[in-house]
Amino acid sequence: MSTPVSSPPYRKRVLTMRAISKHFGAVKALTDVDFWVNEGEVVALIGDNGAGKSTLVKILAGVHPPDGGTIDFDDEEVAIASPADSQALGIETIFQDLALCDNLDVVANLWLGRELTTSGGLDEVEMEQRTWTLLRELSAKVPSVRIPVAALSGGQRQTVAIARSLIGEPRVVILDEPTAALGVAQTAEVLNLIERLRERGHGVILISHNMADVLAVADRIVVLRLGRNNGVFNAVDATSETLVAAITGATQGGGKAAEPPPASRIEARPGAGESPDAGPGAPIIPMPSKASRRPSTRDRGDA
Ligand SMILES: Nc1ncnc2c1ncn2[C@@H]1O[C@H](COP(=O)(O)OP(=O)(O)OP(=O)(O)O)[C@@H](O)[C@H]1O
Ligand SMILES: [Mg+2]
Repeated sequence: MSTPVSSPPYRKRVLTMRAISKHFGAVKALTDVDFWVNEGEVVALIGDNGAGKSTLVKILAGVHPPDGGTIDFDDEEVAIASPADSQALGIETIFQDLALCDNLDVVANLWLGRELTTSGGLDEVEMEQRTWTLLRELSAKVPSVRIPVAALSGGQRQTVAIARSLIGEPRVVILDEPTAALGVAQTAEVLNLIERLRERGHGVILISHNMADVLAVADRIVVLRLGRNNGVFNAVDATSETLVAAITGATQGGGKAAEPPPASRIEARPGAGESPDAGPGAPIIPMPSKASRRPSTRDRGDA
């Protein structure tokens, strides 16, 4: 099946990190890192162990304050001093441990801390209906919303964690290694889910070590090496070999590789031949139309 994925007429920049640095004692986890994400875009963040991926997203999640650099959200400079600040901006982070309550059912997990109430107490009917609506929208395969999440498979648990992150309609969803512990079929399910997130217009940041996953689902791929930018690639043109070369340092991304342009330059989505994302000297190539993207996981019929 080759249904073209419709692309939005423009992609608004949601988040821009510039020259971010972070050290832990003598360890320089991040040096001068640039990173950005647009609405309806899946950006993969890749790199070897210790490259700084988790540290970068923990700065967005309000776990660590950066030592240097700036973060703009919707073109306004912001300080993210706590996880509550991050959530209030519209950033949801799904860490690898998922932080689900095993003994509670799917509905209770989704609405934990944000329960809907009526005058008589919890509005279980409304919460259950909205849970089903959300799961249907995500084409998620969960057998029942009234079973404890302990009874679900790894992929289904990941689905519940992603669905929970969407309750507040975040602008940016961060997934740290969502498929690391999953089998083939479950991985395909989660990749499908990530495509649904893109369709819903969320900016998605995906940390992964799996090149096949990254190439299947990402629009843009950002490589970190030893805490520095080492290349930005459009997924449609990248190969496992070019990515591995950037990860290992066989190719240099030009140090501070991808200075994001000022927001005014990326508001309108330009025509072919002009890159909305790459700054001068950046290795990124012009963003192709979605119709020319590699087949989505759905098109390949994996799910
Ligand atoms: N809380 C911390 N205290 C001290 N050092 C830390 C801390 N968090 C990360 N580091 C160090 O910062 C560097 C980057 O770590 P980070 O976890 O961001 O890497 P990563 O790219 O996520 O790696 P992995 O693929 O193994 O998850 C590493 O050298 C790590 O040891
Ligand atoms: Mg990590």
